[in-house]
Amino acid sequence: MLRVWDVMVAVVTVSLLTCRSALGGYGTSVFSAQTSSPDPCYDETGNPRRCIPDFVNSAFGKEVRVSSTCGVRAPSRYCVVTEKGDDKHDRTRDCHTCDASDPKHYHPPTYLTDLNNPHNLTCWRSEPFLQHPQNVTVTLSLGKKFEVTYVSLQFCSPRPESMAIFKSMDYGKTWVPFQFYSTQCRKMYNKPNRAAITKQNEQEAVCTDSHTDMHPLSGGLIAFSTLDGRPSAHDFDNSPVLQDWVTATDIRVTFSRLHTFGDENEDEDSELARDSYFYAVSDLQVGGRCKCNGHASRCVKDRDGSPVCECKHNTGGPECDRCKPFHYDRPWQRATARESNECVAEDRSLAGDNNS
Ligand SMILES: *[C@@H]1O[C@H](CO)[C@@H](O)[C@H](O)[C@H]1NC(C)=O
Ligand SMILES: *[C@@H]1O[C@H](CO)[C@@H](O)[C@H](O)[C@H]1NC(C)=O
Repeated sequence: MLRVWDVMVAVVTVSLLTCRSALGGYGTSVFSAQTSSPDPCYDETGNPRRCIPDFVNSAFGKEVRVSSTCGVRAPSRYCVVTEKGDDKHDRTRDCHTCDASDPKHYHPPTYLTDLNNPHNLTCWRSEPFLQHPQNVTVTLSLGKKFEVTYVSLQFCSPRPESMAIFKSMDYGKTWVPFQFYSTQCRKMYNKPNRAAITKQNEQEAVCTDSHTDMHPLSGGLIAFSTLDGRPSAHDFDNSPVLQDWVTATDIRVTFSRLHTFGDENEDEDSELARDSYFYAVSDLQVGGRCKCNGHASRCVKDRDGSPVCECKHNTGGPECDRCKPFHYDRPWQRATARESNECVAEDRSLAGDNNS
């Protein structure tokens, strides 16, 4: 268990570091700003400068909607398969009950985004008997726009044979694919395996057969890094295409097909085999930053309890995506490492003079 946890921390840390450098050294500017000045959006002399919210796991503690949970319709049985050492033929099954009316035997979706304690892994479990073409979906609303660096899942069951990650930029009205995982990319998603991303298709979702091995039978990880392999990632500041690509209000994972243990036809315990087919996940993370376009250093709750950027630089809107009233002297722009691009008040006295 500990080893799995270490690997996971390592992967997540790597993607975090990749992100920091790819997003133009956001991390360093935030930290230096916090030690030297009370407001990271202004320098020591009061001049505006780019500021950005902290890097967070934006899934943590959030509600997740799932299409299937074991034991909700009726108590049912599920079996966990383990292998002795490396011998795939020496398998044992441990069977348990899931029952939503009994907290001890309930594996609710809240376990996906609770504290991921490696000494007490809590797992959400889907219903067993799942067979293709049945999909199980897991949907997370972030509540506002975030710039997402990675999406990761840690499994308690074997990893799926086929699954897809989608994002929405309009609170779940429309969805676009982020990434596909399958041992049969062409057949499942009509995509080539591991296609290269070029400057011409930087918003294209790729299908890969990596992370699809059914081993380990428990504790496997899938981590999708949104900027990995995208040519403009090193120049994120100047790439509206990638800024748009990483933007999401909602994340959805669709599990489409399970690995089978290859024993469905054995008469002896086909029922046991079926009880072993389910998806189980201990942790869903969405690493990223509240999207404020370089004009806020944190997000806060507004009067309705919805998260919004605490906009500076005379900007406004949920993502500091426009100039605030009477500050339209020049068009709104996102802040960059070099230019704060603050909105400027219209000089109304001057305008008045000219008109008279
Ligand atoms: C493990 O976590 C669950 C859910 O948070 C909790 O109910 C349970 O008491 C914990 N078990 C241990 C041994 O800490
Ligand atoms: C399952 O999900 C995939 C996308 O991952 C979708 O293309 C397909 O239509 C879905 N199938 C069913 C039966 O809902």
